[in-house]
Amino acid sequence: MNIGVFDSGFGGLTVLRALLERLPAADYIYMGDTARLPYGAKSQATVVRYAVSSARFLVERQQADYLVIACNTASALALDAIRESVPVPVVGVIDTGANAAHAATKTADVLVMATAATVESHAYSAACGKRGLRVIEKASPLLVPLVEEGWIEHPVTEEVLRIYISELLDEVGTAGLDPDTLVLGCTHYPLLRANFERALPPSIRVIDSAEVTAAQVAAALCLPQEACGPDGTQHSRRFYATDSVAKFRRLGSRFLGEPINGVELIDLGG
Ligand code: DGL
Repeated sequence: MNIGVFDSGFGGLTVLRALLERLPAADYIYMGDTARLPYGAKSQATVVRYAVSSARFLVERQQADYLVIACNTASALALDAIRESVPVPVVGVIDTGANAAHAATKTADVLVMATAATVESHAYSAACGKRGLRVIEKASPLLVPLVEEGWIEHPVTEEVLRIYISELLDEVGTAGLDPDTLVLGCTHYPLLRANFERALPPSIRVIDSAEVTAAQVAAALCLPQEACGPDGTQHSRRFYATDSVAKFRRLGSRFLGEPINGVELIDLGG
């Protein structure tokens, strides 16, 4: 099976990392649209155009037969358009995150932190609402550049996160909710998981949408656990980026947790 994993950039490698642990017996094609990121600050029309061209690249030119949209913003704004444009199953991270929140919460009150575009789309509110949950969403746009800068344990990142969470908890107080679950609704936030856990009250549990998406894809596909095919050859991992391959290798290895070799540059137009 050829699984295509798509993200606006490097962050979706957190989803690939989780998929490799759960589903080693697949070939993976990862595509990061690094020339056109960030998606999280763009309009729906632009995100749809970029995401559809990226999905078509994976299916039409790389023969992916299953697509995982690792990018929360693309999943929130473009999932229907992607599904209409390619003839393969497409899984996004919003429904999988909402499923996990539903399974985890006891109070039925859930928090989501994500990019501005994801929050403005209210895709998480809609998905969680269908499952009977009440949701407060909080845009946290400064966290993506801080993670990309590698400032994981940096005091500036701790302070920015503390401010976002205190604003969010103020909203919780005003709305009279009792949340016990927070969904990390952006590819970059799993790298800050420990920071989130430090900044949140201990009663609030953190859900990593990368991890739960991998678990749900693994459950749906039921592939064997072997990392090699029947002929003993290792399953392949191919990487494509629309901007500097050197930067993709350098930043991407931080997200994947291992060195990345063999990134190919592609041009999807403007
Ligand atoms: N991949 C995006 C997301 O998960 C974050 C980076 C961006 O804004 O492009 O929403």
